Amino acid sequence: MNREAKIYIAGHKGMVGSAIARKLQSLDYSNIIGKSSKELDLRIQRDVNAFFEVEKPDIVIDAAARVGGIMANQTYPYPFLMENLQIQNNLIDASIKHDVEKFIFLGSSCIYPKLAPQPIKEEYLLTSPLESSNEWYAIAKIAGVKACEAIRRQYGKDYVSLMPTNLYGPYDNFDLETSHVLPAMIRKFHEAKINGNRPVELWGSGSPMREFLHVDDMAEAVVFALENKLEDNLYNVGTGKDLSIKDLALLIQDTVGHKGEIIWDATKPDGTPRKLLDVSKLAREGWRAKIRLEEGIKNTYRWFLEHQDSFKEVKF
Ligand SMILES: NC(=O)c1ccc[n+]([C@@H]2O[C@H](COP(=O)([O-])OP(=O)(O)OC[C@H]3O[C@@H](n4cnc5c(N)ncnc54)[C@H](OP(=O)(O)O)[C@@H]3O)[C@@H](O)[C@H]2O)c1
Repeated sequence: MNREAKIYIAGHKGMVGSAIARKLQSLDYSNIIGKSSKELDLRIQRDVNAFFEVEKPDIVIDAAARVGGIMANQTYPYPFLMENLQIQNNLIDASIKHDVEKFIFLGSSCIYPKLAPQPIKEEYLLTSPLESSNEWYAIAKIAGVKACEAIRRQYGKDYVSLMPTNLYGPYDNFDLETSHVLPAMIRKFHEAKINGNRPVELWGSGSPMREFLHVDDMAEAVVFALENKLEDNLYNVGTGKDLSIKDLALLIQDTVGHKGEIIWDATKPDGTPRKLLDVSKLAREGWRAKIRLEEGIKNTYRWFLEHQDSFKEVKF
């Protein structure tokens, strides 16, 4: 891959986009471009086309999206559907019109059916109903996968979709109202520790099984897709290993050094009992995750400690 190729990372300030930018920089890619949502609102087709007209990127990585937890999805179904469709449609359409040779679309494992057999293979897409709590977001992401597949089929261009499992790492969202389970636990255990090891209350029974991938591994998978022509259109990205939420809590408690009690609030919903991606398809192409969960959580907690004051205003 030409290190001078112009690579546009949409969403380069987000958790995933910024990890991809760091990874590419570390590999001496010298022509990376990005715009914040304030500089370029990707929902506005005219502005996206004008940007592509001027910049003419060779490669586009779509890490821009309206993201959020179940609560946000349920409260704002329309923007979760429409804004995600607008962002990805504008990017994909401008890319095909401006002859972008490679496009990497990032989706999410929520595209798969609610009752998909475990571990979830790519071929289970659209085989039965979705989880209703985030179907708005999932339907937008499925449309993105299908748009890339259609382009691949009709024009033979290398447009590929990567579906990550739950991600965590630097620049995660630690806001307790809107964050995912892993960063929320880091913050809860940390705050309980500095407040005299008071008890930590966690939602559900702790029994659901979940998979977590460090965002630096995700960035590496994106670079792998960039540097190789993958055989097919859709690939899962994960570790292929899961653990119970209870074991995750114990691991984070240990990493943070919290010595108090954990109280499980079993009146709160558990969600689906297991969600694990089958990652063998990308493994056959030659990519596997490297960062062990213990190591990744240590690294994320260190990052949290170093940055909590500087981004408190924005993220907390
Ligand atoms: N985090 C996870 O656990 C996870 C798991 C699976 C898949 N993913 C996928 O990975 C991708 C990135 O997620 P993330 O966690 O990095 O999210 P994030 O931290 O919230 O970043 C999202 C990025 O999208 C940009 N964006 C949103 N609306 C925009 C708009 N209208 N115009 C221009 N830019 C806009 C934001 O730009 P500004 O910062 O400039 O506003 C931000 O940089 C998403 O497609 C998501 O589905 C994430």
